Amino acid sequence: MFLRNRRYLDYYYRLFTCGLMLFVVVIGLNAQQHPAAPHTHPEFQALANPIPSTVESIRTGRQRYVFMCRECHGNSGRGDGDMSHAGGVPSDFTDEEWQHGGSDGEIFTVIKEGVTADMQGYNNRLTDDDIWNLVNYLRSLGN
Ligand code: HEC
Repeated sequence: MFLRNRRYLDYYYRLFTCGLMLFVVVIGLNAQQHPAAPHTHPEFQALANPIPSTVESIRTGRQRYVFMCRECHGNSGRGDGDMSHAGGVPSDFTDEEWQHGGSDGEIFTVIKEGVTADMQGYNNRLTDDDIWNLVNYLRSLGN
């Protein structure tokens, strides 16, 4: 009987430790979430845009935008699309503010890697060249 109880205790102890470890991992993952306040990514600022902002590049960017981005960011880029279901507020590309840094390299990295559940990375769906075309298009909206 004593032995049996001990085994149960052991079991509960292990369960507790596992639970605790899981808790710590979840807290750790949360801490790594992308910051909500405006910030910059100096490490990406150095990425140079290899595609000149020509009429053709902006046109190609607009085509990709209409297909993949407009549903959330809105037809004219004001963030007034209605498809962001994970609770995010789509960025307005016509204002001055860049939440994740305003250099071409930073905007490129946001699109490529993603930042939130709504704003996911387009790494698998767009070539680097097309992401740069999108950067050129988004920039053209501010003018
Ligand atoms: C499902 C909705 C959704 C789609 C589709 C989407 N976005 Fe976003 N996007 C968001 C949200 C929400 C944010 C704000 C993220 C945050 O909280 O910082 C965002 C942020 C951004 C930012 C950061 C702007 C800043 O101020 O730094 C860029 C750039 C961007 N999106 C580009 C794109 C491009 C380009 C596409 C298409 C290839 C796209 N997005 C598609 C929802 C979306």
